[in-house]
Amino acid sequence: MITEEAVAPFLGGRFGRPYLWHAVCPSTQDVLRGSDLPEGAVAVAEQQTAGRGRSGRAWQSQTSAAILMSVLLRPERGIELPQLSLVAGLAVAEALAAEVGVTALIKWPNDVVIRDRKVAGILLETDGDVVVCGIGINVNQDEATLPVRQGLPAGSLASATGKQYDRAPILGAVLGALELRYDAFRAEGIEPLIPLLGARNWLRGRRVQTAIGIGTAGAFTHDGRIVVIGDDGSAEAVRSGELELI
Ligand code: BTN
Repeated sequence: MITEEAVAPFLGGRFGRPYLWHAVCPSTQDVLRGSDLPEGAVAVAEQQTAGRGRSGRAWQSQTSAAILMSVLLRPERGIELPQLSLVAGLAVAEALAAEVGVTALIKWPNDVVIRDRKVAGILLETDGDVVVCGIGINVNQDEATLPVRQGLPAGSLASATGKQYDRAPILGAVLGALELRYDAFRAEGIEPLIPLLGARNWLRGRRVQTAIGIGTAGAFTHDGRIVVIGDDGSAEAVRSGELELI
């Protein structure tokens, strides 16, 4: 169990305080929505009964196999959510790479991919001035228990490496990386993070379909979009939801 006692040794900053652990809840997103808790408050569950992903999809996993958590953020007004989404993806990818010793990439806008399988997903939801950053990481699921999904197949840290993991240090590392990158983003904007993001861009060079045709994915833009070079040589920067892998 990733209770407060188990995770406390791995918390070094302000993220994770308070730490609200639930054996089961509908969605950790809803534990934080509407609360007056400080920035960095975290809700964690061993199991969710109504876990959700982007675009109205469900997010499911067996009890205690994954890291299911939400982090309360209170960014300044006017912060760009597409940028914040990339920052969160970077932090999760960096933490997983460091903890597990594998290459972890960002599949724009904010999936984390290891060995061409989706291992983590991020869901940003706004609630007035607050952003609730939901993070789901498949950790110890085996092949038989991973969800079947369209597009990129689901993977877990266990399926990628053949090992089982203690979730507490991984959760602590994710919170540490998120705090580090989020604070840097607020202080200096996205610019200094662009090279780090570019180095983890899983989509770059892959064939994609957009509203105006087929092309090849390129670099992230400073406003959190991704460039697609059309087969006719045109370049367009597309927004989340406007691109499909082919
Ligand atoms: C996605 O890939 O579509 C985003 C998935 C986000 C899942 C996490 S699990 C913890 C938090 N609570 C939820 O209901 N969703 C997020």
